Amino acid sequence: MIKNFKYTFIAFLLQMVIAHAQNDPGKYTAPKDTMVIKKLSEWQDQKFGLFMHWGTYSQWGADASWTICPDDWVKRTGPYSNNYFEYKQAYENLQASFNPVAFNPAKWAKAAKETGMRYVVFTTKHHDGFCMFDTKQTDYKITSPKTAFSANPKSNITKEIFDAFRKEGFMTGAYFSKPDWHSENYWWPYFPPKDHNVNYSPSTYPERWRQFQDYTYNQVEELMTGYGKVDILWLDGGWVRPPAQDLNMPRMATMARTHQPGLIIVDRTVSGEFENYTTPEQEVPEKPLPYPWETCMTMGTTWSYSPHDTYKPVWQLVELLVKIVSRGGNFLLNVGPDGHGDWDPIVYDRLKEIGEWMKINGEGIYASQPVVPYSVDNIYFTQSKKERKIYAFWLAGKETVLLSENIQLPATLAPAIKQISLLGARQKLKWTVTGDHIIIHIPAALRQNALKQSAVFRIEY
Ligand code: GLC
Repeated sequence: MIKNFKYTFIAFLLQMVIAHAQNDPGKYTAPKDTMVIKKLSEWQDQKFGLFMHWGTYSQWGADASWTICPDDWVKRTGPYSNNYFEYKQAYENLQASFNPVAFNPAKWAKAAKETGMRYVVFTTKHHDGFCMFDTKQTDYKITSPKTAFSANPKSNITKEIFDAFRKEGFMTGAYFSKPDWHSENYWWPYFPPKDHNVNYSPSTYPERWRQFQDYTYNQVEELMTGYGKVDILWLDGGWVRPPAQDLNMPRMATMARTHQPGLIIVDRTVSGEFENYTTPEQEVPEKPLPYPWETCMTMGTTWSYSPHDTYKPVWQLVELLVKIVSRGGNFLLNVGPDGHGDWDPIVYDRLKEIGEWMKINGEGIYASQPVVPYSVDNIYFTQSKKERKIYAFWLAGKETVLLSENIQLPATLAPAIKQISLLGARQKLKWTVTGDHIIIHIPAALRQNALKQSAVFRIEY
């Protein structure tokens, strides 16, 4: 009990430190490469992306990778749960049966596009080391003859996904885990793995670590050369960093950008010149951050597919998007394909409804920037970067919105208003400015019908 409390408390403190580091502008190093600066700004305008965690673990509906990590051992349930080594073996045997024949990336790309998403980040390799691309560095991969799906013409899954999404105009991002719990140069079988870290001392065994560096370098090079244009290299596993676990990022980044000029590199939580944007995980910062950032969040409760998962309702997903964008961030929303290669039907439903809202209200989202005072009560603001327009998102906290007769906004928002409209409605609205407030008058006809998710006003000035 006391021990548990102690660990919880330490974990809490650690989280505070990490959160502080993530929100500390002093920790952000702006890129100097003009092509990176340009791509970063282009990426910031896209606002909404799709994240996908997919691998052999999806067959079990087990959380991606973590169940083979001694750290997480207590959380593991189900078969082989009495013996770590048997469990890991069974987990790795999932390679043989992985045969996601329903895989249809064009269908996903279309659904994501209809949702209003504009970039995709895909797990090319998670911590478990299984490669969802055709690497030459290991046989623990989707295209190995040991994997059932290797016989399928679409077996190079990463390539198929990037091609399909690019066809729909998406920017592409390769999630790549720096730790690799399959590699004998990360978890050397000579020692038992003890936690998520490398299980030997790289300074005592520099040759072994150098092999791991090369392995990682070569895999990243494969991803940067064989998969068309890649916009983001999203490196997870921030504990792999200098001084103890140094992958020589300057060397890797130079190589990657030689092949992919302007590549955005996200060396998560490490900070410094290779973390071009920060990635608050499963949370929305309380206020705008003075550098590029992206919230990554699950639509369900876990990163990877989990049967009978509970998915966030549409209104909540829309509100998350609005809050994030009003604070200058991007929203990377995660879904986990299942072991057969498709999404839960609920995911399609959610995305479709978000898309319906985005078709009417997306103009206040894309290419916008934060505007003071960012939000007042349940109203959140954005400002178009290019036009003299401000958007006010009235969040209802539920699926439907019934507007009241008067909506009150701070007068400081826009000096000389030319026009106010409710997106999706034809009527121009009347307003009055009284002291500190702009009061928008909502005609009776607009008050009768409930709007979906949230109401958005466009203020032209
Ligand atoms: C954390 C988790 C990892 C997950 C990632 C997504 O780093 O360890 O499993 O892929 O978050 O953001």
